[in-house]
Amino acid sequence: MSSGVTVRGVRKDYGDAVVIERLNLEVAPGSFCAIVGASGCGKSTFLRMLVGQEQPDQGEILIDGEPIPPEPSPARGIVFQRYSVFPHLTVTQNLMLPAELRASKFFGRVLGPSRRKIRDSVADTLKSIGLWEARDRCPLQLSGGMQQRLAIAQALLMRPKILLLDEPFGALDPGIRGDMHAILLRLWRETRMTIFMVTHDIAEGFKLATRLLVFDKVRHDPDFPSAYGSTVTYDLPLDRAQRRAETAAALAAVEASRSAAALAVVRASLNPPPAREEPVPDPVQGGNPQAV
Ligand SMILES: Nc1ncnc2c1ncn2[C@@H]1O[C@H](COP(=O)(O)OP(=O)(O)OP(=O)(O)O)[C@@H](O)[C@H]1O
Ligand SMILES: [Mg+2]
Repeated sequence: MSSGVTVRGVRKDYGDAVVIERLNLEVAPGSFCAIVGASGCGKSTFLRMLVGQEQPDQGEILIDGEPIPPEPSPARGIVFQRYSVFPHLTVTQNLMLPAELRASKFFGRVLGPSRRKIRDSVADTLKSIGLWEARDRCPLQLSGGMQQRLAIAQALLMRPKILLLDEPFGALDPGIRGDMHAILLRLWRETRMTIFMVTHDIAEGFKLATRLLVFDKVRHDPDFPSAYGSTVTYDLPLDRAQRRAETAAALAAVEASRSAAALAVVRASLNPPPAREEPVPDPVQGGNPQAV
């Protein structure tokens, strides 16, 4: 089960600072969108609007054609930039707690079969994400990679139709990152959730996503830098294996500089411009003409 997302003319301000403006997107159900952009450009703010924690000041965000209710819902799981687990509870207790709280809202206390059902679903998730051996440990006794897997397991247990990941693998070493990529891709293929993943590692975006969204400002006021907000400046489809292969060379340049200019190279490789006529050399200047 997955959801489509429509973003129409969204703007978000904090005080007199515009963070996001003129944001328009149509995201098909089951897409995996990687979001990249400079620090402070509004990536986490965008995820908080998708989860319903923040509301746009202008425009609207629709999920399956419906406005987002202004509170978090199990249909939209989020893994925050910083962990949100309870340090004094074990891994299993941390994972059971949200489901228990939800169930106890209806039944007062969670007993017998419903408690067993929650325990079974937690056990399945722990096994699928490789945390079964660590089920009785507290978060502080886990490595960074395990803590991050715990945060992802927490979001997955709610069976979300949209999964929002805010730099989920930022603190991991490359080996564990690779393992996490494999786990995430497997879960995504199994569930067909729609995923938005913020990353500072553009190579990670290329590896995992079906679409790369670059957030940046198109308007600047040097006297008042917060006068204008970010929007999606590049929207690169990565859905065909062949296209991914074509971008391999350009990717090296992007990794080296992580700049908008390098992204333009990638964009050109994805969408080669139509063939145009060779410019005629200028006989007076002796050649080296500029393309028009
Ligand atoms: N609750 C808030 N109140 C006021 N300003 C905020 C609030 N949340 C975010 N901001 C500001 O909005 C801008 C965007 O913040 P956001 O956290 O979305 O950036 P980001 O792109 O996720 O950055 P990073 O890559 O560093 O995580 C920043 O200038 C930040 O200071
Ligand atoms: Mg952020």
